[in-house]
Amino acid sequence: MVVAILVAVASNLISVEVSSRSDQAKAAVADAFETAYGNADPGTGRLREFTVVAEPSTANLSADLEIDVWSYNGTVPGPQLRVDLGDTVVVTLENRLPQATSIHWHGVRVPNAMDGVPGINQDPVQPGESFRYEFVPKDAGTFWYHSHTRGSEQLERGLYGSLVVVDAEDPPYDVDVVWVIDDWLLERDGSLDETFGAMHEITHNGRWGNVLTTNGRVNLEMSVPPGARVRLRMVNASNARVIAPDFDGVDPTGIAVDGMLARQPFDGDQFVLAPGNRLDVEFVMTERPIVVSENFNGEGYNLATIIPEGSAVLRDGQPPLPPSNPAVPQAAELADMEIDHEYTLDFLPAMMAPAWGFNGRPFPETESLSVNRGELAIIRLRNESQALHPIHVHGQFFLVVAIDGDPIDEGHLRDTVLMLPGQTIDIFLFASDEGTWAVHCHIQEHADAGMMTLLEVR
Ligand code: C2O
Ligand code: CU
Ligand code: CU
Repeated sequence: MVVAILVAVASNLISVEVSSRSDQAKAAVADAFETAYGNADPGTGRLREFTVVAEPSTANLSADLEIDVWSYNGTVPGPQLRVDLGDTVVVTLENRLPQATSIHWHGVRVPNAMDGVPGINQDPVQPGESFRYEFVPKDAGTFWYHSHTRGSEQLERGLYGSLVVVDAEDPPYDVDVVWVIDDWLLERDGSLDETFGAMHEITHNGRWGNVLTTNGRVNLEMSVPPGARVRLRMVNASNARVIAPDFDGVDPTGIAVDGMLARQPFDGDQFVLAPGNRLDVEFVMTERPIVVSENFNGEGYNLATIIPEGSAVLRDGQPPLPPSNPAVPQAAELADMEIDHEYTLDFLPAMMAPAWGFNGRPFPETESLSVNRGELAIIRLRNESQALHPIHVHGQFFLVVAIDGDPIDEGHLRDTVLMLPGQTIDIFLFASDEGTWAVHCHIQEHADAGMMTLLEVR
């Protein structure tokens, strides 16, 4: 009797101690996140207005390959929106499609009502209607925008573009360019396969195309003067394809992931972009062509060739150091912290139609997670399926802290992380922005089949 009481008391004490130590550690990481974001920008006072018309049009993927697409302003990718940190961005979306649509600003911390998910952040924009998006981006970097309605069809048809937020304090480059990479599933006759959301795409890894384009072109060729310092911003806009860029002819230095500068420069030739991810690299243009290909599963698609052309860029002295953000939080002391929430990523064959979900339920039956603003949530994602799942969180960034139980320090934040079959990934999610945010698999066919849940930040 006495022994039992003592044990009970002792274990009580231990659990109290552990949780307060864990709370303190979490508060410290939350502070580190706040510091990493820096101070809210006072704003430039400048208004940047754009009109984006979503409409059916055609695109020339190469000289002899023209396909029907849905585009923003007649081009795929849509117009590159380039603004300065602190600008107020106003985008009027006009819908001239035969379907409702909406625009999501992937990775941009926008006011919740501007986040673009119909039914969560806004009403769908019906054909013939328009919608005004307005926000002041809080972070500089490489972002993108895309339809967030029937993604398996609307992204595949071409409704996406890039958004670059420039920080006046970033070091200048001679060339600063975005590559929006996509794959297309074409029929034998060269037309777009219109069986969007096919059953085998839902039950497997989504829709993987047979033609890859960079900025809407097969085998893009880009001329750059030798000696030029280049900042290359890559966006994976594919519905489902994972892209592992392989640089032949230069060793690029990685500087940012998902828009956010890394703690320190990293090997830019090793990063894998899941759908949704961005990677910024820098390099000095060589005297010989650089060939960049996609090699995730060894198929070796050409993405682009960078050709030295024009008079060499000469420079006195050392080039500036790559930009970095030394304040990116460390992930080290996770070991004895408690997991706040666990999600299993599940295939749900027994629904009315095959579906995907979190914790056994497809959206909108999934339970939402709520976290207080300014707090850290430690989340364990368990991929119990045989498929790939790039998990994307709207409105906030996170840090990957462990893979299959082994601590990892990636040295950069993310808004999307690829989960391989059977993998368990632990993340520190910092709830930075208030509202109801979507969390979903970025394989469009999985998201449309229910692989979505909600994060409430109060
Ligand atoms: Cu890039 Cu919810 O999206
Ligand atoms: Cu997003
Ligand atoms: Cu998925």
